[in-house]
Amino acid sequence: MTLLEVTNLQVDFATDGALLQAVRGASFSIAEGEILGVVGESGSGKSVTAHSIMRLLAANGRIAGGSIRFRGREVQELSPAELRAFRGRDVAMIFQEPGRSFDPIYTIGRSLAETLRVHNPNLTDEEVRQRSITLLEEVKVSNAERRLENFPHQFSGGLLQRIMIAHALAGEPALLIADEPTTALDVTIQAGIVQLLLELRERRNLAIIFITHNLALISGFADRLVVMYAGMVLEEGLSAQVLAQPHHPYTAGLIASLVPFGAHYRQRKLAALKGTPPDPLHPLPQCPFAPRCPLVTDACLQAVPPLIDDTSASPSGGDLRRHRCIVPGPKEHR
Ligand SMILES: Nc1ncnc2c1ncn2[C@@H]1O[C@H](COP(=O)(O)OP(=O)(O)OP(=O)(O)O)[C@@H](O)[C@H]1O
Ligand code: SF4
Ligand SMILES: [Mg+2]
Repeated sequence: MTLLEVTNLQVDFATDGALLQAVRGASFSIAEGEILGVVGESGSGKSVTAHSIMRLLAANGRIAGGSIRFRGREVQELSPAELRAFRGRDVAMIFQEPGRSFDPIYTIGRSLAETLRVHNPNLTDEEVRQRSITLLEEVKVSNAERRLENFPHQFSGGLLQRIMIAHALAGEPALLIADEPTTALDVTIQAGIVQLLLELRERRNLAIIFITHNLALISGFADRLVVMYAGMVLEEGLSAQVLAQPHHPYTAGLIASLVPFGAHYRQRKLAALKGTPPDPLHPLPQCPFAPRCPLVTDACLQAVPPLIDDTSASPSGGDLRRHRCIVPGPKEHR
C-alpha cells in the first residue's frame, strides 16, 4: 500500500535579490516496507525535498506547488497538533552528522527518555528505562543498560548514528527518512548501518527513504531508485531495472562512473560526468541536463521535458518506471 506520495513538488527560497528554485518538480512514491533510494549530486534538492515532507523548511523557504500525501492526507494541511503527531509517529528523520543532534551535557539515557516521553507522556520511569534498553538493543548497542549512563562524546560516530536511529524508532514510525546517514562514517561502519536498516525493515515493516550521493552504496539495497538533478526527478524505477537499463542519460553517466561500494579510491574513474548542474537562481526553460548531455538536440532546448511514464516496463502498472528525457529507450552506460 502506498504510504507517501509526492507529486510535482516545487520549493523556493527567498535569497538576497532573487528566488532560488531548489525543487522544480519532484514526484515519487513509497510503499509500506519499501526502501527507496534517492540519489543525486550535491545541490540537486534531496535534503530540501526531505525537509518539505517533514515540514522543516528554513524560514526563507516555501512550498510553491505540488502535493505531499501521507496515507492519502495532505501534509501541508496538517494542524500544529496533527503535525506534532505526524513527526516521529508517522515519519521520522535521521541526519548525516549524528553528533550534532545530541546535547553534550545529557546522558544518552536522559535524551532517549525525553524522546520516549514526547510520544508516550504516561509512561512510568521504569517503563521508560526498559523501553530505552530495548531500543538500544534493537539498534545493536551492546551493554545497553550501562551505556544509558554515558554521554555522547563517549560513543563513536557509528554508535551515535545507531542511537539516533533508536530515537527515530521511539515513536514507532511507518517511514524513516535517512538523509546521508552514513556519509560521515567510514566504509565498514557504513555497511553496518545499512545492515541494521535492512533488519529494521524486515522486523518492523519500516519504509525507508535513503538519501545519498553514493549510487554504489544505495544500488545494493534499495528496492527502487529516484534520481534527482537540478531539483527534478529525472528517473524513477526498480533499482535492478534502472541500473541495467537507464532511460535517462544522466543516470547512465552516474552508472558509468560507478565503482563498487568500498573500493579503494585509486580504482575510481575520474570525472566521468563532466560539467556542472545549472544555476538554481537562473533556471532555463529547457532540459536541465542539456549542457552536459551527449544526446542533446535543439528539441531539448525548447521546454523542460515532462516526466514520462514508461508503461512498457510495467504493463500492470505495479512497478512504476518514469524518466524525464525526450529521447525514448534505454541509454548507453559504458
Ligand atoms: N535556506 C536556504 N536558502 C537558500 N537556498 C537554500 C536553502 N536551503 C537549501 N538551499 C539551496 O537549495 C538547493 C538544494 O539544496 P539541498 O540541500 O536540497 O541539496 P542536496 O541535494 O541535499 O545536496 P547535498 O548532497 O550537498 O546534501 C541548493 O542550491 C541549496 O543551496
Ligand atoms: S531531453 Fe535531450 S538533453 Fe535532456 S537528457 Fe534527454 S537527450 Fe539529453
Ligand atoms: Mg543534502
